[in-house]
Amino acid sequence: MDVEKTVKKMTLEEKAKAVEGNLVWFTQAYPELGIPEIQVSDGPHGLRKMYGEGKTITSVCFPAASASACSFDTELLEEIGHTLGKECQAENVGVILGPAVNIKRSPLCGRNFEYISEDPYVAGKLSAALIRGVQAENVGTSIKHFAANNQEFERMYGSSEVDERTLREIYFPAFEIAVKESQPWTVMCSYNRINGTYSSENPWLLTDVLRKEWGFEGLVMSDWGAVSDRIAGIAAGLDLDMPGSGGVNNASIVKAVQEGTLSEEALDAAVANILRMVDRFVSGRKEETFDPEADHAKAVDAAKECIVLLKNEEKVLPLAKEEKVALIGGFAESPRYQGGGSSHINSFRVVSALSVAERYGAFTYNRGFSPEKDETDEELQKEALAAAAEADKIVVFAGLPDVFESEAYDREHMQLPACQNRLITQLTTLGKPVIVVLHNGSPVEMPWADDVAGIVEAYLGGEGIGEAVMDVLYGHVNPSGKLAESFPRKLSDNPSYLNFPGTGHKVNYAEGVFVGYRYYDTKQMDVRFPFGYGLSYTDFRYANLRVSRDSFTASEGVTVSVDVTNTGDRAGKEIVQLYVADRTGSAVRPVHELKGFCKLSLEPGETKTATFKLDSRAFAWYDTESGDWYAANGSYTIEVGRSSRQIEYTAEVHIIGSREKPPVITPDVQLGELLQSPYTREYTMERMKKYMDRFRSNANETEEMVEAVVRFMPLRSLRSFLQITNEEIDSIVTDLKEHVEKQLQK
Ligand code: BGC
Repeated sequence: MDVEKTVKKMTLEEKAKAVEGNLVWFTQAYPELGIPEIQVSDGPHGLRKMYGEGKTITSVCFPAASASACSFDTELLEEIGHTLGKECQAENVGVILGPAVNIKRSPLCGRNFEYISEDPYVAGKLSAALIRGVQAENVGTSIKHFAANNQEFERMYGSSEVDERTLREIYFPAFEIAVKESQPWTVMCSYNRINGTYSSENPWLLTDVLRKEWGFEGLVMSDWGAVSDRIAGIAAGLDLDMPGSGGVNNASIVKAVQEGTLSEEALDAAVANILRMVDRFVSGRKEETFDPEADHAKAVDAAKECIVLLKNEEKVLPLAKEEKVALIGGFAESPRYQGGGSSHINSFRVVSALSVAERYGAFTYNRGFSPEKDETDEELQKEALAAAAEADKIVVFAGLPDVFESEAYDREHMQLPACQNRLITQLTTLGKPVIVVLHNGSPVEMPWADDVAGIVEAYLGGEGIGEAVMDVLYGHVNPSGKLAESFPRKLSDNPSYLNFPGTGHKVNYAEGVFVGYRYYDTKQMDVRFPFGYGLSYTDFRYANLRVSRDSFTASEGVTVSVDVTNTGDRAGKEIVQLYVADRTGSAVRPVHELKGFCKLSLEPGETKTATFKLDSRAFAWYDTESGDWYAANGSYTIEVGRSSRQIEYTAEVHIIGSREKPPVITPDVQLGELLQSPYTREYTMERMKKYMDRFRSNANETEEMVEAVVRFMPLRSLRSFLQITNEEIDSIVTDLKEHVEKQLQK
């Protein structure tokens, strides 16, 4: 299709209609113009294609993002993407609505199970990989929800009050990385407002940042029902209104164009973006068949890569075939393997641990509690305790019932159902090793953590989770996942605690850039399990950290490598992490930030090298004054380790040649700043000498105090202390400004 020509042929009315969806999941069709419709579908950890009246096709449920993130495996995510893309082709779905990449600001956000991480770099890299995979099959993705949609409470109306630096460093980069690396066909704007403006009508967000700065070339669609003012939305860069207004907005769009309050170019641009997407899918259709058996096997394999072993005291795991194991807890029978809401899949085949247990060893099973609600059943508990007393080891399948976490509402607390905590605690008094397997989309408090021997975090691992868990428990699979989020000991430790979910339709992101480990690690706070943490049945030794150079300019960057050896007796995978710590003092920053990760697969005795290339962004923070990223001159520590709290090696490096930031010259600028800056130091010393001497002789104080006072004294205060006229201060300010400008031109 020649998109530009086709847009020219369309009447204003046709164009006004084309920018909204049809029948919830479709774009508009204009057969006479050669424009077919295409269908979009929810997901993204499976295909939720709707048909008929609210029916969903049967498809394969892959691990939810909270789980797949723990694989830290871009290849796996890309592979899942290929599979989803092929399923879409087979089902004639043009765009799958995901990945969902919002940052896990609070453990309470109801949709955390379908979000990737608390860390923007991880969320960006993994989502970029998934997008690559899907789109290689000529099917679009819709990275969502752009932006700052980090809770469900008031999600359609509340305003996320976030300063720009925090947006740029925490809430934007997942989108930015994915756009720059993988060009998703579409971006879905969020429901919420950001600093008062709806995302669906925010020109700064949808056009300036997304398109102009990051170079996004695709289409922006609204979240379902996110449009408030459609005219403002089109002008801001919102191309497609989903599911649409059922035609209600058509007339007002026509009127706005006719009256000149909306430019026809803006409408044409939106229509062209939609047609390009439709044409791309339709002209690149592939013959595919959806083989649920084959894809189910892939879902089982994927789940095995995501499980995180959190505790394994005295090597209680893996279980041996001959051990008598008491399986307890309703989740063994009905695992919680996906979350509720728009990502819910009508699953092909759910494998419970119980259904495959026979293959692994001798076991008994007792329900102990219901996986659906928090209700103690004395009889079930008694039976479970009795069976456990006869076993060698006890495995409890615990987790959050469906109603505890879902799209549309947030969790009320961070606890497991009390009936489960009670039973686990009782089981620990039997004197047998207890292992807890968790099925949850987001962290839970673990009051029994010190008393159990093993903890396995299965998250919501998709329809194959039961088999994957049994494989890990019995050592058929060596666990290799690591946490893509921190597990605080209790909810009140979380940095957003005092400002979640907000009041007065506003939520204040007061913790700024200190989200997740950026906060816990900076505060040196005790956590239950740190970001990046996870155990293996084998051991890894780190050695020989190398940096390609000690000093470099930000644009040159640096390459870092480290050797990792599998020192144990079974094959395993290690997720090596690289953090950067800014020692320059140029801004208030987290104590360190993840800037690289790498997953190595190692046979016993094998050594491989993890290599990381760091560019200027790895060192930079976002300077709102200059509106750009800034990596200050000075020293940085490169940290390489197993988790954010287990750093094995560090190296000191130096950035040189960055332009120093000139001080902003106003009467309020502090003398200390002028005296420190290379742009103003000498000039200020010369120009201020007489005033400073006068100030010194007037002040009847110690030299230390005088120095401190001068350092933090604004220029304007000379007026009060030395009776300098306003004119004189103005002339100093003007001179200094000129001086700085000259320096900058050099
Ligand atoms: C959700 C989106 C979803 C859309 C369509 C919205 O309520 O926020 O994630 O893609 O519905 O189901």
